[in-house]
Amino acid sequence: MNTTDEYVSQLENYERLLDPITTSILKKIIPRNDLECLEIGAGAGSIARWLADRISQGRVTATDVDVTLLTPGRRLHVRVLDVQSDEIGCRTWDLVHVRSVLTYLSDRTQVVRRLIAALKPGGHLLIEEPYFVDLTACDQIALETVRHYSQALRQMVTHAGADAQFGLRVPQILTDAGLQCESQVVGFTGRAGDGGWGDFMVSRSSLESRRMVELGLLSEEAAAAAVRQLSSGIEHRIPMQMCSTWATIPAR
Ligand SMILES: C[S@@+](CC[C@H](N)C(=O)[O-])C[C@H]1O[C@@H](n2cnc3c(N)ncnc32)[C@H](O)[C@@H]1O
Repeated sequence: MNTTDEYVSQLENYERLLDPITTSILKKIIPRNDLECLEIGAGAGSIARWLADRISQGRVTATDVDVTLLTPGRRLHVRVLDVQSDEIGCRTWDLVHVRSVLTYLSDRTQVVRRLIAALKPGGHLLIEEPYFVDLTACDQIALETVRHYSQALRQMVTHAGADAQFGLRVPQILTDAGLQCESQVVGFTGRAGDGGWGDFMVSRSSLESRRMVELGLLSEEAAAAAVRQLSSGIEHRIPMQMCSTWATIPAR
């Protein structure tokens, strides 16, 4: 894992902004407090810790390919796990949660099927994956520089083999597997200095634009102009929406 201060601070900001969405769904779908919970790609672990605080019996197993940022605690186990290749169990878990991980994996659809198989009858699955919005189709974004930046962001995501629309595909994958699911899509706006998504986007843009230039997706001038625009305090749509999809495995 990239454990530079910049990366860790990005991850913690990401958690701070997204956790209210995740926890509001978990509060709805968690029926009891004695659950065996599996968190996939736990990152810096905020949701795993939240779950461990919430259950009075049972336990949370927080997993990631790199667990450097995860600390075990009361009812909180930490395990190195590559969700693409390692054993995750069969009919083992009451709750499986994954956020912003599957989009970037090559066999993401197969992994979803394995997550379903890993749940006990009556168990709950919550998958939260982004959808990178194509802002070229969005006419309220008048600023060309930000539009170019968001196009390059989408290209950068897919260049690495990720599916920029995976979040939107999850409901169909669950339906095809015979599950009834619910889903919600949340979009974000922000401006520099808002202490929220706007600031997050500004700090990401300086990291990401360097990579876009390296990949030849954006010229240095265009990258610098986009970072300047975003930093100027203009209101902008965040080129990422979060798609949360949840389902309960039928009790057989
Ligand atoms: C964008 S971060 C998201 C972290 C956390 N889920 C969140 O939403 O705050 C993606 C995480 O997935 C982990 N990851 C990447 N590939 C993985 C794999 N094959 N199996 C398990 N975790 C993986 C990374 O190490 C990283 O911690």
